[in-house]
Amino acid sequence: MTTVRDLQAMAGDEQITMLTAYDAVTAGIAEGAGVDVILVGDSMGNAVLGYDDTLPVTVDEMASRVAAVARGTDETLVVADMPFLSFGADEGESVRNCGRMLKEAGANAVKLESGPHTLSLTERLSDLGIPVMAHLGLTPQSVNQTGYTQQANDREEAEQILELARAHEDAGAFALVVEHVPANLAAQVTEAIDIPTIGIGAGGDCDGQVLVFTDVVGLAASSPPFAEQFGDVRSEMHGAISDYVDAVESGEFPGDEHASTSEELDDLY
Ligand code: KIV
Ligand code: NA
Repeated sequence: MTTVRDLQAMAGDEQITMLTAYDAVTAGIAEGAGVDVILVGDSMGNAVLGYDDTLPVTVDEMASRVAAVARGTDETLVVADMPFLSFGADEGESVRNCGRMLKEAGANAVKLESGPHTLSLTERLSDLGIPVMAHLGLTPQSVNQTGYTQQANDREEAEQILELARAHEDAGAFALVVEHVPANLAAQVTEAIDIPTIGIGAGGDCDGQVLVFTDVVGLAASSPPFAEQFGDVRSEMHGAISDYVDAVESGEFPGDEHASTSEELDDLY
């Protein structure tokens, strides 16, 4: 099994690859393709659950999807992304929600969209044996404050991120996602801390990269500008499903080979 220690050992040596997945089938394919870490992202909200953003995703929805991903993988480190307001308000409730992901669903770690409010929680969870992946820069659960635009474009905000990155490392975070910030900031954060940084829309100087699976395979209706589409699964699916519809409508499917008959059952009616 890949552990958080293995990831830390990779950093600086080879690039860490992280991809989101929300079900057992996709997770198994990702594992087979060599992904190091599967993030069961709350991006499932817009990516596959039909919500407009990540805010409505519930702890139960996350636990269900994490469990599916854990069942679909053998070796890969599985990280549960904690939904909006499932952490940060009350420490006891935060710990219980995070704990469920390991205890019930089979995750190996949790990710928290981070800020000053997650420092003591990160320390508490780490003490309890729940590895925490921090997340700074664009944090989509704050869309109502920030939108989805690039963050930390001025010195003050950039220094704040650098400070929070150091503080989360000190609090015990095992890795840090850096999302949609200038590449030279992500590079300096990567230099400043010892834990691995995993970038998304943050340039090529992080210790690894993460993307959303529906963006990577070309299944998303729309993708952010920093994503790259490596396949065209949406049109593959459209083609297969319309061929099926055509075959049923034309009587071509099912054929004789798709069913059996029993002579004994002739003349029932
Ligand atoms: O939910 C998600 O997929 C994420 C990654 C993009 C980092 O948080
Ligand atoms: Na997320």
